Amino acid sequence: MSIGVTKGVALRGVTGHLVEIECHVGPGLPAFELGGLPDRALRQAPQRVRAAALSAGAPIGSRQITINLSPASIPKQGTGFDLGLAIAVYAAVDVVPATAVRPVAHLAELGLDGRLRHVTGVLPAVLAAQRAGCEHVVVAPEDVAEAGLVDGMRVSTAESLGELVAAYRALRRGGRLEPAAARAARGDGTPSPAVDLADVSGQHEARSALMLAAAGGHHLLLNGPPGSGKTMLAERLVTILPTLTREQALESLAVRSLLGEVPTTGLDLQPPFVAPHHSASLASLVGGGSGAVLPGAVSQAHHGVLFLDEAAEFGASVLQALRQPLESGQVVIARARERVVYPARAQLVLAANPCPCGEGYGKGLSCTCRPTQRRAYAARLRGPLLDRVDIQVQVPKVSLADLNEAPPDSSAAVAERVRQAREAQRRRWEPLGWQLNGQVPGPVLRRRPWRLPSAATASLDRALELGQVTVRGYDRVLRLAWSSADLHGRTAPAAEDVGLALMYRTQGAVAA
Ligand SMILES: Nc1ncnc2c1ncn2[C@@H]1O[C@H](COP(=O)(O)OP(=O)(O)OP(=O)(O)O)[C@@H](O)[C@H]1O
Ligand SMILES: [Mg+2]
Ligand SMILES: [Zn+2]
Repeated sequence: MSIGVTKGVALRGVTGHLVEIECHVGPGLPAFELGGLPDRALRQAPQRVRAAALSAGAPIGSRQITINLSPASIPKQGTGFDLGLAIAVYAAVDVVPATAVRPVAHLAELGLDGRLRHVTGVLPAVLAAQRAGCEHVVVAPEDVAEAGLVDGMRVSTAESLGELVAAYRALRRGGRLEPAAARAARGDGTPSPAVDLADVSGQHEARSALMLAAAGGHHLLLNGPPGSGKTMLAERLVTILPTLTREQALESLAVRSLLGEVPTTGLDLQPPFVAPHHSASLASLVGGGSGAVLPGAVSQAHHGVLFLDEAAEFGASVLQALRQPLESGQVVIARARERVVYPARAQLVLAANPCPCGEGYGKGLSCTCRPTQRRAYAARLRGPLLDRVDIQVQVPKVSLADLNEAPPDSSAAVAERVRQAREAQRRRWEPLGWQLNGQVPGPVLRRRPWRLPSAATASLDRALELGQVTVRGYDRVLRLAWSSADLHGRTAPAAEDVGLALMYRTQGAVAA
């Protein structure tokens, strides 16, 4: 009896399991059987493996081959097992040394010509392999850089199955499987951001709103006429947020790996900025789809910023569907036979025009919309998602005087203030399980020991009595006031912090 064993990885979403590929080759009628819950693509692997083996010059021939993928209870998907299957067969018939291939995870598709081909999800697969104690992977040449992002993992590659088999065979003569040479630059340094907050002239209120949002992790709505700089501001939020830890950057990149979108330039520690178009489908925003369950924009923005430009143009059902992921920090997609969980800890920035014509109404503004049009427009935004948005700020047209002003603070300077404010929050909330003011439930802030003296909350209390804010709005103002205090180095919000927060709450024309 001949048995060959090697490893592969079963991925479900970004969660991976190291799988043992166990091959038994025996006498009997020619067959190639695959057990252990393979999906359709995987069930077709035997054809690819046979063709690739023929091209490699080491045909499998007419033997009875039985492969089990264990643990058998985990569903296995895709074409990434191809290489592992081939190597397990070769180990079973002693074409390659069984002991050498046993601990190695093989993650590549096989072309009919024997070439090792790219698969999606290499990064989460290698991370899973590492967590399971595996120290060596073999991937296609295109995937070497991606696999190499994982610390301490030995990565090998080969152009073709034939080349890999030759390398394994050479081990018997004292050769070694060369680590892949073409590693990408591991660039831990964040590449200097191409955009900077200093590019934005004027817009003092919006700039300080952006800083507050960054400091406390608050969702933000920018409301203003076309061309006032809303998109510019939103893009610059990631330049003032703290850089990611290596672990966070890998988590975030693992999601994009499933979409085949990992850059080869090394690990970028700047938080991701994801800006889906308003014509985007629900599935591409939240995740899912009719075929494979792919992650959506909200998961691609994990640990970063999700920007919805022209937010009123997104369908109400789409905005509504974002609410739950943003609250829980994850997306759960349940299908008949599977349940996939994607991370989705993203900060939301919405941009909107004040009305359909974009000019805005009120003193000195030249809106040409009918009141009914304006109301219908505002109503589209005012759904449940806006409940979660702590800051609404007006972004007016830029004046000539604004453009001629001295350049404002750079991203680096603002980022440092944000960092200090976050440090203060961490010290305060960590014992209670939060990191940022934006995560603290309102009632907590209304109770001791966090309750503020009435001298500090006088303006807010009055607004509540006059019906200018709801109780929910009251809580959001408190959260924001804490962020303002943290940015100013105060141990608790003073009347001016509450006043500032209240302004960001009530000035928005979209919803008070
Ligand atoms: N405050 C500003 N400071 C410097 N340049 C600005 C400012 N506002 C706008 N601009 C210039 O105008 C261009 C358009 O700005 P941006 O796209 O950010 O506006 P917007 O508010 O998003 O408009 P729209 O509603 O049409 O999307 C920018 O690329 C920039 O060159
Ligand atoms: Mg824009
Ligand atoms: Zn108008």
